[in-house]
Amino acid sequence: MLDQIDKLRQEALAAIAAVEDLKSLEELRVRLTGRKSAMRSLLASIGSLPVEERPEGGKVVGALQKQIESALDDCTERLTQTPETNAGIDVTLPGRRHFEGKLHPLTRLADEVVDILRSIGFVVADGPEIEDEYHNFDALNTPVDHPARDLHDTFYLTDGRLLRTHTSTVQIRVMETTKPPIRVLSQGRCYRRETMDATHHFAFHQIEGLFVDHGVSMADLKGTLTLIGRRLLGDRTRIRIRPHFFPFTEPSVEYDFSCTLCGEDGKASPACRVCKGTGWIEIGGAGMVDPAVFESVGYDPEEYSGFAFGLGVERMAMIRHGIDDVRLFLENDLRFTRQF
Ligand code: DAH
Repeated sequence: MLDQIDKLRQEALAAIAAVEDLKSLEELRVRLTGRKSAMRSLLASIGSLPVEERPEGGKVVGALQKQIESALDDCTERLTQTPETNAGIDVTLPGRRHFEGKLHPLTRLADEVVDILRSIGFVVADGPEIEDEYHNFDALNTPVDHPARDLHDTFYLTDGRLLRTHTSTVQIRVMETTKPPIRVLSQGRCYRRETMDATHHFAFHQIEGLFVDHGVSMADLKGTLTLIGRRLLGDRTRIRIRPHFFPFTEPSVEYDFSCTLCGEDGKASPACRVCKGTGWIEIGGAGMVDPAVFESVGYDPEEYSGFAFGLGVERMAMIRHGIDDVRLFLENDLRFTRQF
């Protein structure tokens, strides 16, 4: 019987190895394992063996059956995996292009400014977008009846919290928990109740810088802003500061970068889309931290001084890329974002 089994095994495996298509494989499967197959008769003949030989006989024939079935399965796999028939894949078709993701233009610009500030020792600080009135207004010397609050109308939650209107909130959060010297930057999304148009959006992004130490002066502020301008817009960029008002700085300024598109050496072009012929581009607000702000976080204004500034990320990106509508940034239209 063992000889018979060996012979059957050899024949079966040779036949399976020679099969070239699924139809013949099916026929072979019936011939090798079907009701009329030699293997079935072998299985049936076990019953007629002497009782003490039956277990051994069952084992040997069972192993043969397993071997043949798994060879048949392997063969099915081999035949279905040829390129012509494999799961509908046509290897002669051109390959599919992978979609290549890129960083959003606002992210890229913010990353650049963050790199510039980190290169001169600023560290990144973070704060929540859902803020309380205290950090967004009161601690920044903007009490509830202050007219400056009107410009910062925003979205309120039912529990009285609000969506922050600027990243200046992070100045307070950092100073509350850290002693000077402080050199931090913070970036992120801000919100205001705005009627949307080409230059206003209810959501926008800012980068904030804060530097507090002994003897910090306006010259340090100007130097820092000049560095940002030159790195972003080129080495010939100049900076201009104009008196302004912010509740949390004294004195307060707005700062402009010279228009590098047309305004080099004071020869601005009236046709310039970016500076409108003035030679200057408004960038953001800044100033020396108001003593009242220091007092709200428990610093001694006699001992420390500091500067702070804010930079509008959308504004900078619009200048950089000649974009004339702020709404494009948050629409997520790939036809827009793919251009950068
Ligand atoms: N937070 C101001 C705004 O959104 C911008 C600003 C002005 C930030 C002066 C500052 C600053 O840090 O010192 O309008």
